[in-house]
Amino acid sequence: MLKTNQDGKLWMVTQPDHSQIAGFIAAHWGNALFTRPGFFSAETVADPERLRAEVILAIAEHDNGWWEWEAIPDLSVADGFPAGLGEALQNQQAGIDRWRRGLTRFPRRPFVNLLISSHAYWFYAARALQTPEPAFNHPLFWKGAPDKLCPESNEALLAFMAELQKQQLGSIEELRADPETASWVEPASLAPLQRLIQLCDGISLALCSALIPSKTGASKGLGDDSYELHDVPRRSWMDRCTITVTPRGDRRIELNPYPFDIDPLPVVVRARIVELPAERPAHVHSWWHACVPQHIQFQFVSAK
Ligand SMILES: [Fe+2]
Repeated sequence: MLKTNQDGKLWMVTQPDHSQIAGFIAAHWGNALFTRPGFFSAETVADPERLRAEVILAIAEHDNGWWEWEAIPDLSVADGFPAGLGEALQNQQAGIDRWRRGLTRFPRRPFVNLLISSHAYWFYAARALQTPEPAFNHPLFWKGAPDKLCPESNEALLAFMAELQKQQLGSIEELRADPETASWVEPASLAPLQRLIQLCDGISLALCSALIPSKTGASKGLGDDSYELHDVPRRSWMDRCTITVTPRGDRRIELNPYPFDIDPLPVVVRARIVELPAERPAHVHSWWHACVPQHIQFQFVSAK
């Protein structure tokens, strides 16, 4: 659960809802300046629209390993509501198991699994590797790498990362064996898409949480922070730029340069919001399902 305290209220957004927003962002990605997902090697990819559809599905489903957790969430010791992401991630093994479960959902979609697996890999690489590839640094860490793990906890992560890499090679082989998908996994086509899943995740997280570091001061969250998106593929993987994100009030958020197909782009966040201080729910499932979700509308806009 993504939990944010703001203005005396507790906002709760589920991981699957956040993930769907990332998919929405991916489905609107691309314009005259920014290549659409799937079209980075349009001259060699036979059916870029088919590839684009796979990318959008992968990005929309990247956190589906959380389904079971969100249905029966662990509860926060502090407030009795479902635990926040930071609290849930204390259990490293459970996190690994969630990625494993998510990667079994669509056994006949090797490209979807390849992107989600790559996303998990680079998320852990930031903490487990001494020198992770900077172009795949998740927006969560845009202001600086997270603390490196101690050797013992690192070992389990390195083993899981090796498992992910092996699985990725299997998906790549499968895609290469089919002439219609072989070009999808060429680096010029694949690398920008591996980056795009991180970027759409980060943009969605900035709306649904306070996890993306603010340019200055503490993060307020829920779209109220300025931040930068680095290594954004523009026309190709060799042509990358930085997008500056700035809140402009009334839930209007400026992206400069602007990567979407329509301007403004409305984005809806589904949130459960409770006034603080709140009583601990006696029966969390009954409480959760009775709680009326609010649909908070944001707008992404270009710089005028
Ligand atoms: Fe996510």
